[in-house]
Amino acid sequence: MPEQVLEHLAPQPGQTVLDCTVGRGGHARLIMPRLAPGGRYVGLDVDAANVQFLQDDLKDAPVRFDVVHRNFCEAEMVLESLEIDRVDGLLADLGFASTQVDDPQRGLSFLQDGPLDMRLDPTAETTAADLVNHTPQQELADIIYQFGDERFSRPISRKIVERRKQAPIKTTRELADLCCAVYGPRARRQRIHPATRTFQALRIAVNDEMGRLDTLLAALPRLMKPDGLAVFISFHSLEDRAVKQAFRRYAADGSAELVVNKPLRPSEIERRANSRSRSARLRVLRWIATGQTTTP
Ligand SMILES: C[S@@+](CC[C@H](N)C(=O)[O-])C[C@H]1O[C@@H](n2cnc3c(N)ncnc32)[C@H](O)[C@@H]1O
Repeated sequence: MPEQVLEHLAPQPGQTVLDCTVGRGGHARLIMPRLAPGGRYVGLDVDAANVQFLQDDLKDAPVRFDVVHRNFCEAEMVLESLEIDRVDGLLADLGFASTQVDDPQRGLSFLQDGPLDMRLDPTAETTAADLVNHTPQQELADIIYQFGDERFSRPISRKIVERRKQAPIKTTRELADLCCAVYGPRARRQRIHPATRTFQALRIAVNDEMGRLDTLLAALPRLMKPDGLAVFISFHSLEDRAVKQAFRRYAADGSAELVVNKPLRPSEIERRANSRSRSARLRVLRWIATGQTTTP
């Protein structure tokens, strides 16, 4: 949603922007020229390959550009290490990038066979295979239900446990086939692939996506300058709910104001060009207070 991001982040010369999910720099390339002269752009990403790519590719950035291999839940620490007190703009374009999902080695897609990995940060300890092969059945069902809203969470977790007793489940194909087996002929009546919700749930769990998002949302009072703008783009209802609720709490206690009441959606053209963008929801918050200590 590049146009909506530019409009609502409204970057101005001399300002500092924190891009919590810099990816391959799509938004960074649009925003940085607006910060010149004198502005700063800080990009974070958990994927070291993205960080390396941007360090090479954006050597000639129009403003000072720091790209750091860090989780956005550590944003405060990163700003401190860069001697930045607070930022004028904060962007969080959540989830994964197409370069990640299109690479079968990352194990994010049930459409391609690969190792059952799903880590957005390949240096992190736990993979999806670890979860699938070692989590107790009830806990696995809860993960698949809570983060995937999968109505067959129990039979899927039962099937996983039966299967792993024979041999560890190591690949995306094995897990996808197992989800298809649980759905059986019902799969034909589904709008989405039977593995969609299970894969989403495991990815959220492996990367602790909700915990890290909550930490970032709780840090906003210490990250934002008065009048600063925070733009969050989410791709599933759990993320959007967390953003909505935190924004509403900040608005209710007078720390901030909601710039849009309802989330913005991508244009028809963008939805057609990029199928993943169909689920995107963009929310904007204008910070008012400074030094607030309330947490959502
Ligand atoms: C949707 S992509 C961002 C695309 C980017 N806005 C662009 O224009 O190219 C999300 C990126 O955020 C990264 N990411 C996801 N969770 C993160 C987290 N907790 N901390 C830092 N980066 C994260 C992913 O590795 C991925 O590169």
